[in-house]
Amino acid sequence: MGKNNMNFAEIQTYLEACVPPRPAEMQVMETEALDTGFPIIGPASGYLCYLIARMIGAKRVFELGSGYGYSTSWFARAVQENGGGVVYHVVWNKELSQWAHRHLDTLGLGGVMRYHVGEAVQFLKETSGPFDLIFNDIEKHDYPDSLPVIADKLRPGGVLIVDNMLWHGRILDETDQSPDTCGVRMLTRLITADPGWAASLVPIHDGLLVAYKK
Ligand SMILES: C[S@@+](CC[C@H](N)C(=O)[O-])C[C@H]1O[C@@H](n2cnc3c(N)ncnc32)[C@H](O)[C@@H]1O
Repeated sequence: MGKNNMNFAEIQTYLEACVPPRPAEMQVMETEALDTGFPIIGPASGYLCYLIARMIGAKRVFELGSGYGYSTSWFARAVQENGGGVVYHVVWNKELSQWAHRHLDTLGLGGVMRYHVGEAVQFLKETSGPFDLIFNDIEKHDYPDSLPVIADKLRPGGVLIVDNMLWHGRILDETDQSPDTCGVRMLTRLITADPGWAASLVPIHDGLLVAYKK
């Protein structure tokens, strides 16, 4: 007999346990997140990002709202294994950028990396496309306004991945009308209603939106 009332947290623990072993430096980064409370995407989402990047043969990846390089390391691994290319790490905090730089060099992934300190949507506007894959993890109230810029820079057949689309369950709380929660809901409505995208919300970690640009 199966267990029909599966617990969300138990499923997430199980999914994490299914992720293959990572290089030691990535495990160091996972421990840093636990120690500092920094919100990384975690191994299950990271591995899915890596898989998607490998499956589409991504060579040009742009990350909006990077941290100290954890999600970046999954994309950089994929791009390196795809034969090389570029991965943009973009965050407005200089210390995080330098911290990421150290981790990615230690992982031997520095050759595909480009670093930029500044506002991510503005920098994407200024950067020549197209990109095969764009990953969005900026402030949640800025998600809706970032979509047209992303659509403009992604190639047809490219993939957009957006983190925190379950927003720790806050999207289900109708009394929560905070700008961040409304931003997540609005992006979901915009992208699922737009015939130019095929999108699915994957309930892994804090919810990954995976969208294909037609
Ligand atoms: C959730 S964390 C990134 C975690 C990272 N994706 C990972 O999993 O390793 C988001 C980071 O992006 C920064 N950020 C948020 N909005 C931004 C924006 N519009 N431009 C640049 N950085 C931004 C935040 O300060 C924070 O350091």
